[in-house]
Amino acid sequence: MDFRSVPSLVVMTLCMTIIIAPFMRGAEARPQRIDVPAYFAFGDSFADVGTNNYLPNTTARANFPPYGETYFRKPTGRFTNGRNIVDIFAQTVGLPSAPPYLQPNSSFIAGVNFASAGSGLLNETNFGSVVSMSEQVDQFKTVRVLLQNKLSAWGALKLISKSIFLVLSGSNDIVEYLSDPDFQSQSNATQFLSTVVEAYQTTLTELYKSGARKAVLVNLAPLGCSPSARAANPFSPGECFPPGNDLALGFNAGLRQLVDSLHFALPDFNIVIAESYDLILSMINDKKSYGLDNVSAACCGAGFMNAQIRCGLPVPPGLLEIESSLCKRPSKYLFWDIVHPTEQVVKLLFKSFWTGNTSFAYPMNVKALASV
Ligand SMILES: *[C@@H]1O[C@H](CO)[C@@H](O)[C@H](O)[C@H]1NC(C)=O
Ligand SMILES: *[C@@H]1O[C@H](CO)[C@@H](O)[C@H](O)[C@H]1NC(C)=O
Ligand SMILES: *[C@@H]1O[C@H](CO)[C@@H](O)[C@H](O)[C@H]1NC(C)=O
Ligand SMILES: *[C@@H]1O[C@H](CO)[C@@H](O)[C@H](O)[C@H]1NC(C)=O
Ligand SMILES: *[C@@H]1O[C@H](CO)[C@@H](O)[C@H](O)[C@H]1NC(C)=O
Ligand SMILES: *[C@@H]1O[C@H](CO)[C@@H](O)[C@H](O)[C@H]1NC(C)=O
Repeated sequence: MDFRSVPSLVVMTLCMTIIIAPFMRGAEARPQRIDVPAYFAFGDSFADVGTNNYLPNTTARANFPPYGETYFRKPTGRFTNGRNIVDIFAQTVGLPSAPPYLQPNSSFIAGVNFASAGSGLLNETNFGSVVSMSEQVDQFKTVRVLLQNKLSAWGALKLISKSIFLVLSGSNDIVEYLSDPDFQSQSNATQFLSTVVEAYQTTLTELYKSGARKAVLVNLAPLGCSPSARAANPFSPGECFPPGNDLALGFNAGLRQLVDSLHFALPDFNIVIAESYDLILSMINDKKSYGLDNVSAACCGAGFMNAQIRCGLPVPPGLLEIESSLCKRPSKYLFWDIVHPTEQVVKLLFKSFWTGNTSFAYPMNVKALASV
C-alpha cells in the first residue's frame, strides 16, 4: 500500500461527507420542492370554472342550483357539486383557482382557465356556441403577450416554462361521433380517432411553441358507463354502452402513442398522461373499496338513471312521469350529473394522479412533474 495516498483519501472522505450529508438529510426530511408558479387549463366541462357563464348563446352551462352546492354553496359554472379537478390541482400545488379567461378584470399572474364546456378537439365539435380548443390556444397567446408586457419577454418565458398546462379534452368529440350519423358516414372509428388525435397533436405543438414545457393530459374515462350513456343504451338499458368505452380506449391508445412520439421529438416537453380510464372502471367494478354506493346513476337529475333530464333543469310539463331527484349523500355517488363525477371522486382521482405509480400517471406522477 502506498501510504502517501492516505491523507488525500482522508480529505476526500471528509469532503464527500460534507458534500453529501446535507442532501441525505434533505432527502429524508424535506418533501420534494413543489415549484409551480402558475397553471393554464384547457378543455371542456371537466375543467370549465365558469367560462360559459360569459357566453350569451350556449346552453352548456352549470350556473344554476344545485350545481356547486356541496363546496361553494352556490352555482359557479362548474359542472359538479363542488370543486373540479383543476381546482383540486391548484389547491394541491398551493395556487388559487385561476379565473376563467373571459372573467372581466381578472389577474392572470397565477394562471388562467380557458376551458369551455361543450368544446372538443375538433372545430366541428362545439355543442352550442362555445370556445373551441383552437380559440382557447389563441386566447393563451393573448395572455402570453400580456405577461410579456408585465414581466418582460424573459420573465414571461420563465413563468410559462415552469407553469403546468392541464388539458382535458376529447370526450365531446366522441359523444358527437356517437350521436351524429353524418359524422359516422364520413369516416369509420379508426379514421375519426386519428383525426382527433392529430388535432390534439396540433394543440400540444402550438402550446410548446408558445413556451409550454410541462403538461398534464387527463385521458378519457369509460364514456360508455356514464349515466347518460347507460340511459340511452339501446341494447341493454342501464348497462354500460360498449361502443362508448371502445372509442375512449382507442382515443387513449392514440394519445399514448402521441405522447411517446412527443417525448422523443420534443424531449424538453415534460408531458404526463393522467390515467383516468382504468381508475374509474375500477371504481365501477369495486365500489366498496372506494367508499362509494352508487356508481351507475347520477346523484342529481331526472328520469332513468337520473340522466334523461340534466341536473337542475326543469322537467318539461308534458313528462309527468319523470321526477327530479337529488341524492342525500353525493359523496357516495360516482356521478354528480349525466356525465360529470362528484367532487369526492374528483379528489380520489387527483390523489392517484399526484402520487400514484405509472398505472395512474405516465411516465411520472404529477407531483414529480411539479418538482422537475
Ligand atoms: C348570439 O346569437 C345572436 C342571435 O343569433 C347573434 O346575433 C349574436 O351575434 C350571437 N353572439 C355571439 C357572441 O355569438
Ligand atoms: C372592470 O374594471 C373597469 C375599469 O376599472 C370597471 O369600470 C368595471 O366596472 C370593472 N368590471 C367589473 C365586472 O368589475
Ligand atoms: C377505415 O377506413 C380506412 C380507410 O378507408 C380503411 O383502411 C380501414 O380498413 C377502415 N377500418 C375499419 C375498421 O373499417
Ligand atoms: C380550426 O379552426 C382554426 C381557425 O379557424 C384553424 O386554424 C385550425 O386549423 C382548425 N383546426 C382543425 C383541427 O381543423
Ligand atoms: C343508484 O341510484 C339510482 C337513482 O337514485 C337508483 O335507481 C339505483 O337503484 C341506485 N343503484 C344502487 C346500486 O344503489
Ligand atoms: C400501481 O399500484 C397499484 C396498487 O396501488 C398496483 O395494482 C399496480 O400494479 C401498480 N402498477 C405498476 C405499474 O407498478
